[in-house]
Amino acid sequence: TTTIEVGMLGLGTVGSGVVSRLQQAATQIEQTQGLRLHLAAVAVNHLAAPRAVTLPLGTRLTDSIQAVVTDPKIQLVIEVMGTLEVAEQAIATALKHGKSVITANKDLIATAGDRLIAVAQRQHCDLFYEASVAGGIPILRTLTDSYATDQVTALAGIINGTANYMLSAMTAGQTYAQALAAAQTAGYAEADPTNDVLGLDTAYKLMILSRFAFGQGPTLPTLQPTGITQLTPTICQQAARSGWQVKLLAQAQPANGQLYCRVAPVAVPSQQALSQVGGVQNGVAVTSRAIGASLYTGPGAGSTATANSVLNDVIVAAHNLIHQTAGVAFNRQRQCLPVANFNQ
Ligand code: NDP
Ligand code: HSE
Repeated sequence: TTTIEVGMLGLGTVGSGVVSRLQQAATQIEQTQGLRLHLAAVAVNHLAAPRAVTLPLGTRLTDSIQAVVTDPKIQLVIEVMGTLEVAEQAIATALKHGKSVITANKDLIATAGDRLIAVAQRQHCDLFYEASVAGGIPILRTLTDSYATDQVTALAGIINGTANYMLSAMTAGQTYAQALAAAQTAGYAEADPTNDVLGLDTAYKLMILSRFAFGQGPTLPTLQPTGITQLTPTICQQAARSGWQVKLLAQAQPANGQLYCRVAPVAVPSQQALSQVGGVQNGVAVTSRAIGASLYTGPGAGSTATANSVLNDVIVAAHNLIHQTAGVAFNRQRQCLPVANFNQ
């Protein structure tokens, strides 16, 4: 068994899930992977705040991000605190100190991923972010590995758990405010849920997904996402009575030498599989030349599902550290097309 020293930034919904999953799966990880993942230190904002989990004996709690990302003993850093500038600085510093990094931060990867990937490549470190898209569904790895010899021709996804949960709840009769409050209580929503309901979180995830499917992602100004703030229980219920489910859809499709992308609410007919993806579930429908239509579904947000994706990345990165193969998996080329909005 090889011990890997792990540092973590953030101990909220996802960070607490990582601590729990690490404890629950420790024996399995040791027996099947030959790894002991030792959580050496966790950085938070408010040291005295109450926590959903108890840290293992020997795990240091600190309010210094710098102390974690520069600690010479720590080999791998998990970033689950959110934020843009603070997280980018922390991840870049960790990479520059030779640590592999796992993050769930889609806002950051969508907007600054290229910069951080360049640092990771220079440093021969891994930077993995499976949990940043579709929570517990391993969709980035699937697109990378299972479509290596195939060509994706269309992508449509429900990739925000909060919005999907709210639309399902409103269809069942809850008010918008009740549905949002329930999604927040369940730990699905962002600390500030604005991005969830305005479609920005979906847009960030589509920017990342498209890179994996098409080698090229839209920018936020190209996407101009529409969210769910104008939707009401009446609209959702009227659609359902006519055999439609209102879904916040992310779509990307190459046509005429361009990649057309859109994020907007759509009434999906009940015979389409995506209409059956309800509650916090996410669903990504991938159409490709070789295998045709596939649908990947699973929990799209929440503590345990997201933490599980984080830990799967941690295990791959840990093996890469042991075998000194970290940082080799970045240059997967896909067909690249200029990007346009469906509405243009
Ligand atoms: P929370 O708000 O629950 O937790 C954030 C944690 O980060 C808190 O422990 C907070 O500390 C800490 N933190 C925030 N800012 C700083 C800072 N400047 N310095 C040190 N610590 C800081 O967020 P989530 O766990 O829900 O989300 C974390 C990340 O995971 C985000 O990027 C989110 O988008 C992403 N994500 C979340 C999912 C979910 O289902 N919730 C699913 C997929 C991705 P303190 O507790 O002391 O305030
Ligand atoms: N707030 C996000 C969602 C978390 O609801 O989908 C998962 O990325």
